[in-house]
Amino acid sequence: MRKKIVAGNWKCNTTVQEGVELAKSVNELVAKSGVKNVVVVLGTPFTHLTSIVAVVDIKLVGVAAQNCAAEAKGAFTGEVSASMVKSTGAEYVILGHSERREYYGETSETLNKKVALALSNNLTPIYCCGEALAIREANEQNAYVKTQLEETVFNLSPEDFSKLAIAYEPIWAIGTGVTASTAQAQEMLAYIRGLISNKFGKAIAEETSILYGGSCNAKNAPELFAQADIDGGLIGGASLKAEDFLGIITAY
Ligand code: 13P
Repeated sequence: MRKKIVAGNWKCNTTVQEGVELAKSVNELVAKSGVKNVVVVLGTPFTHLTSIVAVVDIKLVGVAAQNCAAEAKGAFTGEVSASMVKSTGAEYVILGHSERREYYGETSETLNKKVALALSNNLTPIYCCGEALAIREANEQNAYVKTQLEETVFNLSPEDFSKLAIAYEPIWAIGTGVTASTAQAQEMLAYIRGLISNKFGKAIAEETSILYGGSCNAKNAPELFAQADIDGGLIGGASLKAEDFLGIITAY
């Protein structure tokens, strides 16, 4: 059965000290809650990874970077490579987030390199896709997301593709308080699963965890997570408070 995943994306928030405290609180709450059916992941800034891996029980709470370099190593000032991320003990990397595409010019070409490097370093990519408001208003979201996937992760071998999780995050729902309706989220995730099935076959499609992200919180998570194709969430704002995040983790 495919995994349920609730992953926090802290974005550019918290100092190392604050992040360590937050991670400890999440770890403690997850341990106390006895949740066993959900993979919990914290997507922290690069600077925090080593310290956070040291304070969480990695079997209960996984750790993700929010990006990695498109090159393996070398003269790329300021970049952090996939092998560096792996060496911290983190096991996941969020790739292709719309904020990286939009503000840092990430293209399908760069993302193909990042995904390949993440996989060759045994990191699990949480690969993001999702459309802007104008595309949704023009009702072109399916074609847009299809192209995003076709240009990137659909180039992988079936074996490599089956190592990824996918996160659908409509840009218009990120940080806006406007969640996609349950029907909109389910419809898109079912559509993505259908695309995966056409490309890689039904067995791989059924095993791929597909997450929803965008103003997901403890209140709307139960209804979202009850949908057949929603295998969890990628959580921004609500992952910055341990209790709020736990409320989402326990929404299943
Ligand atoms: P919010 O949950 O703050 O809307 O952010 C979603 C997101 O971008 C997670 O990657």
